[in-house]
Amino acid sequence: MRFQDRTAVVTGGGSGIGRASARRLAAEGASVVILDRDGDAAERTAESIALRSGRATGLQVDVAIDHEVEAAVAQIHDRYGRVDVLVNNAGYLRPGTAVTQTIEDWDRTFAVNVRAMFLLSRAVLPGMVDRGVGSIVNIASTAGLVGEADNIAYATSKGAVVNLTRQLAADFSRAGIRVNCVCPGWVPTGFNDPFLRDMSEEEVQAMVEGQVPLGRQGTPEEIAAAVAFLASDEASFIVGQALGVDGGVTACR
Ligand SMILES: NC(=O)c1ccc[n+]([C@@H]2O[C@H](COP(=O)([O-])OP(=O)(O)OC[C@H]3O[C@@H](n4cnc5c(N)ncnc54)[C@H](O)[C@@H]3O)[C@@H](O)[C@H]2O)c1
Repeated sequence: MRFQDRTAVVTGGGSGIGRASARRLAAEGASVVILDRDGDAAERTAESIALRSGRATGLQVDVAIDHEVEAAVAQIHDRYGRVDVLVNNAGYLRPGTAVTQTIEDWDRTFAVNVRAMFLLSRAVLPGMVDRGVGSIVNIASTAGLVGEADNIAYATSKGAVVNLTRQLAADFSRAGIRVNCVCPGWVPTGFNDPFLRDMSEEEVQAMVEGQVPLGRQGTPEEIAAAVAFLASDEASFIVGQALGVDGGVTACR
């Protein structure tokens, strides 16, 4: 129960890694607020947590829209009085190279993957600073650590997330706030469908076996375990780090 009496906000918690993270934090005692552009999905995650006797609320929020983020965080402060943990997880991926990526997709990628993390962080940090405690976990990607063919906007944005994490840590560690990021490898959530295009299941499996030393994709729960660890007091001396949770992809090429 590492999050007893704590309030956690998880963006993109209606599906995949965000949903697993929300469930994990709630299972360990947190009151969790799930922000998702898909309000029904956010509600479903909250209901699934309530069914396991956890505490959760779902809110429909597009994290790329300033006033929606500000209104949601104000509502959370009114209801819970504090945010102890922020998991910046919502993401966007459209493949492309410098020649094929549309400018609209580049801008949307940075709005959701980078700017939204800045918006959420600036909304919760003043309260964390007042209380002298708080933890932010950003979801980057292995694509933020190494180049990835045909993924210029996404990989560049995730590289920015890794350094946004270090920058937030540089600015707020002395106020008692720890900021870290998790860099997941392949996780079969549907998120990568635009990148995998029309590859068959067998082709994806063969690609994963070739790339990943463990020979398989990870599960959302395996990523959530790392999120919960970094968010918890067990990680009390870990600051500004990018933790690969990727079956060995970035360590053992
Ligand atoms: N799945 C992978 O292989 C993988 C690998 C590395 C990193 N990641 C990162 O993990 C994070 C979550 O990915 P996932 O695989 O769980 O994806 P997912 O598609 O299962 O879930 C993403 C959720 O975010 C929500 N969302 C998207 N845009 C939003 C917005 N603007 N505002 C609010 N909510 C929004 C979606 O509605 C959805 O519920 C992303 O940041 C992604 O870049 C995923």
